[in-house]
Amino acid sequence: MQSLIVRAELALDRHLPPADQSPTELHRAMRYAVLGGGKRLRPLLVYAAAHALGQEGPQLDAPACAVELIHAYSLVHDDLPAMDDDALRRGRPTCHIVFGEAMAILAGDALQALAFELLADDAAGRIAPTTSIAMLQALGRACGAQGMAGGQALDLGAVGRRLSLTELEHMHACKTGALIRASVQLGAMIAGADASTLQSLNSYADAVGLAFQVRDDVLDVEGESAVIGKTAGKDAAADKPTFPMMIGLDASRARLTELTDAALASIASLDGRAEWLRELALYSAQREH
Ligand code: IPE
Ligand code: IPE
Ligand code: MG
Ligand code: MG
Ligand code: MG
Repeated sequence: MQSLIVRAELALDRHLPPADQSPTELHRAMRYAVLGGGKRLRPLLVYAAAHALGQEGPQLDAPACAVELIHAYSLVHDDLPAMDDDALRRGRPTCHIVFGEAMAILAGDALQALAFELLADDAAGRIAPTTSIAMLQALGRACGAQGMAGGQALDLGAVGRRLSLTELEHMHACKTGALIRASVQLGAMIAGADASTLQSLNSYADAVGLAFQVRDDVLDVEGESAVIGKTAGKDAAADKPTFPMMIGLDASRARLTELTDAALASIASLDGRAEWLRELALYSAQREH
């Protein structure tokens, strides 16, 4: 996993615009938001899903970068005063604290655009055009009104309200699950997955995506800012509906175990090559930061 993280970070560094090229302030904000921290779960899922289907090639780097660029953009905007108003991210001041709100908004915009540009670019001609189009569509759907942006809208609209558990799970599935599902899908598509394998991987990703956000909610309650790299206790302070708030910490942990079991069961039919996917499912539910 460590070598895959290095591989993704080198590719990100290569594809981000140089800090000394105009407009320098925007480029610096983009690089700040992406480089220097982060668990890189989404690129790891791209590599792991492709690996499960026997694909390791360099054509994985563009989708791996694309999902991390979208993720980084979502964090920059999530931290803005108009959204969660957070000052700490990945153990450092948030992008808008360092570069100002306007530049942070633009950095997010530009990171999102760069993600699609990278995904569409296949200068080496390794990817079938139909696969490229399917990947672009999957990523677009995951980012949009029925995906991450929609989930963030539900999140903001839920402040101070009580949601049903179904509504809460739907919000989590959109704001966090959609991009995690897209990461797995992109890896699978580029490896030429058939429809039934894609179906199994979607079930896996849905369980991992929900587990990842439930764990995030739990860590917001019981984690320490120095370890999680962001301000602990923000959800309760902002009156956000979360799993621990709705069902308590013990039931949230029980749900994490169920979701991990469901994720592992979904990929039981894949052979030993699904090892990385198994590891990432366990990690998503048990991580400490
Ligand atoms: C944080 O994501 C936001 C959520 C979707 C829960 P990560 O926990 O993956 O953040 P980094 O990339 O490791 O900082
Ligand atoms: C963020 O959820 C989800 C996205 C950025 C899309 P949170 O608001 O819980 O993430 P953190 O806790 O700030 O990382
Ligand atoms: Mg948020
Ligand atoms: Mg937040
Ligand atoms: Mg959170």
